Amino acid sequence: MSRTTVDCDGKDSVTFRNIAGHLASGVTVITTSVGGQAHGMTASSVTSLSLDPPTMLACLNRRAPTADAVQSAGKFGINILGSGQEGLASQFAVPSEDKFRGVALATAPEGIPLLADAHAQIECEVADTIDVATHRIIIGRVVRARASEGQPLAYYRGGFGRFQHVDDERAYDAIRSRILSGGWVRRCFQGDELAGEMGIDGSATFYALTRLGIEGIVEWRPGEGYCITECDVRMAEEAFDARSTTELGIIHTCLEHADQREIDRLAEPFDAMAAFMVNDTFTDAKAFMEANFAFHRAIVALAQNSALTAGFERLHLTQIMARLQGVTTQSSRAFIEVQRRLLEALQRRDVGGASEAVREYTDLAKARARQLTESQSDEQQLTNRP
Ligand SMILES: Cc1cc2nc3c(=O)[nH]c(=O)nc-3n(C[C@H](O)[C@H](O)[C@H](O)COP(=O)(O)O)c2cc1C
Repeated sequence: MSRTTVDCDGKDSVTFRNIAGHLASGVTVITTSVGGQAHGMTASSVTSLSLDPPTMLACLNRRAPTADAVQSAGKFGINILGSGQEGLASQFAVPSEDKFRGVALATAPEGIPLLADAHAQIECEVADTIDVATHRIIIGRVVRARASEGQPLAYYRGGFGRFQHVDDERAYDAIRSRILSGGWVRRCFQGDELAGEMGIDGSATFYALTRLGIEGIVEWRPGEGYCITECDVRMAEEAFDARSTTELGIIHTCLEHADQREIDRLAEPFDAMAAFMVNDTFTDAKAFMEANFAFHRAIVALAQNSALTAGFERLHLTQIMARLQGVTTQSSRAFIEVQRRLLEALQRRDVGGASEAVREYTDLAKARARQLTESQSDEQQLTNRP
């Protein structure tokens, strides 16, 4: 796989900021008080410096009033924000006369104002300060610290996000593949009993179920718990029609002017997809569906419209196809052939040919959805027979 790299010579501060943004961090609000006046600012350049004695470090722009306030107060609070508190981070990141507007405060014995709802709070006494370039490194000896349950807020590449445990992804994969393979007889379960049954951590299970809920694979039903949703023909047909309408729109409005390099790159996901089908059988159904999704996503990306691409992703076509397919590896070479015609027509910028291939592919996919659902319900009836 080719990797795109960006270089920076150490003088270009804009590129450096983009590169430094790859270092994910937590988000804090540094607070202090001078003469009864509270000061606060958002800071992500905060780290623990030493455990013995417990010492923290914060890098504050010398032009920020809070930097001077911390130095003259000789004490400060580090309020570590939790997931969902990006509003607080934004509020304390812009100069304002009334930064603490609507913020619940708790005052520490030393008189440091603390954000009552912060994920964690660390109170410090200033041990040293060092001015470097535009910033002041403030070294704080920890006086007191506390933390509450929950997830920290993350910041990277200029945006807020959340940290994810590796276990979360594993739990998601395990529960998802068990549902898709029809591995559960009962259809509803409570999160904690599922965690026990699968031997997975409770919070990772909760994460997995929430994500599967967003994808429409499970739904929360009061009194019943998380229930596996039905994947019916209508749902699949609507998703295939939505894909077709999107692609037809793009072919008609964007193909003529689409970037040649983007068109050339369509062959990569297509070839990857084709490699996962031998005769009429998937060698790896999951990998095929992922490559199929990548191919169609690349067609949608020809429009260079991120809202359109995001909408396409929300159709969850991979999940729908996986649920229809179940455990069978049986498919049809015709899917590859019609998509090959689509690729070739796109490469020729042939609007008519590409449109015809999209329609044919959609008809094929819908017919296959009906066939798979019928055979699944036949199997169900056989299983239910006394
Ligand atoms: C996520 C985030 C992290 C930030 N981290 C820092 C930081 O570590 N140091 C800093 O000086 N400013 C940082 N800032 C910018 C300050 O919060 C911002 O300049 C603020 O307005 C300064 O406070 P003032 O209003 O008292 O000048 C950050 C802003 C955001 C949104």
